[in-house]
Amino acid sequence: MNNVSMYFNSASTNDIENIIEIMRGGYHKCWDKKFFLNLIENKNSILYILKDKKSTVGFVACTISDRDCDIIMMVIDIKSRKKGFGSLLLCSTLSLLKAMGVTNVYLEVAVNNIRAINLYEKNGFKKINTRQSYYKYNETMIDAALYQMVNTKN
Ligand SMILES: CC(C)(COP(=O)(O)OP(=O)(O)OC[C@H]1O[C@@H](n2cnc3c(N)ncnc32)[C@H](O)[C@@H]1OP(=O)(O)O)[C@@H](O)C(=O)NCCC(=O)NCCS
Repeated sequence: MNNVSMYFNSASTNDIENIIEIMRGGYHKCWDKKFFLNLIENKNSILYILKDKKSTVGFVACTISDRDCDIIMMVIDIKSRKKGFGSLLLCSTLSLLKAMGVTNVYLEVAVNNIRAINLYEKNGFKKINTRQSYYKYNETMIDAALYQMVNTKN
């Protein structure tokens, strides 16, 4: 990644429009404003954004229960991919979760989402299960791989 200053912050309601724009431009799911508002307001969830000086380049949403966390989704703006921001967002999230006392991090990813699978496996996630026909894309059913990371390393 080039030497640009990046900021990893908790999202506020003012960020929701940017988040929805990033999601619409490069992710198969589309959640509405209320969904993101709940993530901000709910004590058991977090919504964080990765920003450079000018704009938001990505976001991550998680639900947390004691020492367990599910990463619901993480998305990098389609214009900013393959520049190391996904790795930075994931590593920043794992550091934050560790500081919060979370030790088990889980996520589900479509088995054909090679970009995301590479990113997760590169960062220590291990596949622990497969859920058959879990997602539906354009009338096609796709399996989900369930990944876990034990987040205790320094
Ligand atoms: C998955 C995603 C977050 C990666 O973000 P990114 O900023 O492009 O990732 P990085 O540049 O940090 O790349 C990190 C690693 O991811 C993997 N990766 C990223 N893009 C890839 C591609 N096009 N093909 C294969 N692997 C890829 C590689 O392992 C890469 O490491 P490398 O550059 O050393 O090969 C991004 O593609 C995205 O937002 N996708 C849509 C949303 C999504 O599917 N999210 C995951 C499920 S919730």
